[in-house]
Amino acid sequence: MKHLLTVLIALLFLALQACEGPEGPAGAQGPAGKDGANGQNAGFVYFEGFKDSLRCATCHTPDADTALFMAAKTLEYESAGHMEGTSWARGINSGDCASCHITEGYLESARGNFASQATKLYSHGSQPGCFTCHSPHKAGSFAVRKTDAIKVKSFVAGAADLQFNVGSSNTCVTCHRTRETSPMTNSVFVNGVSGNPDPTKTAATDSIEIKTSRFYPHYGVQGQILTGKGGFEFTGYTYPSSYHTNLAAAKNIQCSDCHMANPTVIVNGTPVAGGHTLKIGYSSISTDSANNMVNVAGCRTTGCHPSAFTANTVTATVFAAFKQSGQKALQDSMATLKSMLVSKGWLDPATDLAKLTGGKLVIKPAYKAGALFNYFFLEHEGSHGMHNMQYAQALLNASLAELRKP
Ligand code: HEC
Ligand code: HEC
Ligand code: HEC
Ligand code: HEC
Ligand code: HEC
Repeated sequence: MKHLLTVLIALLFLALQACEGPEGPAGAQGPAGKDGANGQNAGFVYFEGFKDSLRCATCHTPDADTALFMAAKTLEYESAGHMEGTSWARGINSGDCASCHITEGYLESARGNFASQATKLYSHGSQPGCFTCHSPHKAGSFAVRKTDAIKVKSFVAGAADLQFNVGSSNTCVTCHRTRETSPMTNSVFVNGVSGNPDPTKTAATDSIEIKTSRFYPHYGVQGQILTGKGGFEFTGYTYPSSYHTNLAAAKNIQCSDCHMANPTVIVNGTPVAGGHTLKIGYSSISTDSANNMVNVAGCRTTGCHPSAFTANTVTATVFAAFKQSGQKALQDSMATLKSMLVSKGWLDPATDLAKLTGGKLVIKPAYKAGALFNYFFLEHEGSHGMHNMQYAQALLNASLAELRKP
């Protein structure tokens, strides 16, 4: 038997060496193989620019999502100022405004690493949305889009631009910053030369000619005040900052810690504060009456002010009495500054803008215009000093003292 096999194999070998026979018929299909390794590129089609191996169902779950709560966050976000406000429409057909007011323009400036603003004109646009702060398809996660430093241009002569570098807040400050092309730039003249307000121009003959009623570099100054920068610093005063600034410098406090504090507050079936509403103050009565409540869940974080409040939400009156806040003193100083600016004829109380006569407002000595600049700065930071109480109060004290000088 063994010998026969050897002979057969030898013959077969010889036959193969000699010539190949015709191919036999195809065999029957074998059993199914084992499951393969995890597929690449979503398994069915390659999405250019989407994260490799992106698993759609991580976020787009087939049933209710109780892991990431995407639908819940979408609902909360409908109450955010970004969605409720109307200024997003200013981004349409405007190269100057698109980068911060519509997602489409924002993404264009993101591609240029926010070095400048969008240049294209968008005849269609949408509010800042999920894809503004997040890039879930490209990143495969909800990490925020921008976490490295962002430059905030200074509009006070002699003051350096700010390199804002606080962490996830950098994404907020890509928009909540001064405008590159502010109406101030070309409309302010110090001693006849186009330029920013200057704390050193103190001589009686120094003049500033303001030819725009918008004597400010736009509204989003929150990144600046949080880091104790951006105000008009009169010389001869000190400008201390609150502990929030130390925390920000150490990247230990983010805009989201206060503005997106959990749990979300719900009134009459509508999310009104916390989470993706980005809101802190809210109304317990309806969504269109004045804020009478404050979500202090963020303030109560361990290591911050855990014992200052006994509940996550307090009335605005209780909040104003919060000793460390100094809010009442600040509001009084703001009111005094406003009435002084109005009585000098620099501020128009009807419009709350600089008051021009014959197309201009001339102030001598020029440096005193800093009081008007600080008024707008503090009004626009929007927190009644809460972002940085000490810096806000110091700017007000210096402004009032200088205005009182003859
Ligand atoms: C990391 C989370 C995440 C993953 C993973 C993910 N998505 Fe999305 N997707 C989102 C978010 C957030 C939205 C916006 C939802 C909204 O607007 O309410 C969205 C929106 C969409 C939309 C609506 C179009 C749009 O631009 O608003 C489509 C279509 C979509 N995703 C398809 C996919 C597909 C296909 C995959 C897998 C290849 C996928 N997504 C993976 C988070 C994700
Ligand atoms: C794409 C630019 C952009 C980004 C990014 C952005 N914002 Fe805004 N934000 C705006 C604009 C524009 C408004 C004004 C909306 C309006 O009133 O029409 C606004 C308004 C707000 C308001 C409401 C202000 C009010 O007066 O009601 C809050 C609070 C706010 N943003 C917080 C944040 C926080 C916190 C972040 C980061 C997590 C952030 N924003 C990121 C552009 C942006
Ligand atoms: C660098 C980003 C940026 C650019 C560029 C920009 N904005 Fe804004 N704008 C903001 C932010 C942020 C807010 C909201 C600030 C807040 O509520 O504290 C805002 C608010 C506004 C508001 C609402 C003000 C209010 O209190 O009612 C108007 C109106 C507005 N912008 C118009 C414009 C126009 C017009 C342009 C273009 C000429 C423009 N913005 C360009 C960031 C920008
Ligand atoms: C203004 C900026 C902003 C917008 C717009 C925004 N988010 Fe967020 N989102 C954040 C920040 C900040 C966090 C906290 C994450 C962090 O600190 O890194 C967050 C967290 C999340 C998380 C939690 C991620 C986790 O790992 O727990 C989800 C889910 C989410 N966002 C979904 C959405 C959806 C859906 C939308 C659109 C409806 C949206 N976000 C719009 C800023 C934003
Ligand atoms: C220490 C907590 C804290 C931090 C950090 C913080 N904010 Fe605020 N912010 C507040 C409080 C408190 C208010 C006043 C809220 C109110 O009156 O409803 C406020 C108000 C605002 C407003 C005006 C809101 C309105 O409804 O008028 C904007 C816009 C804003 N903050 C943006 C930011 C941005 C952007 C950052 C990050 C650069 C930031 N904030 C960081 C506490 C904080």
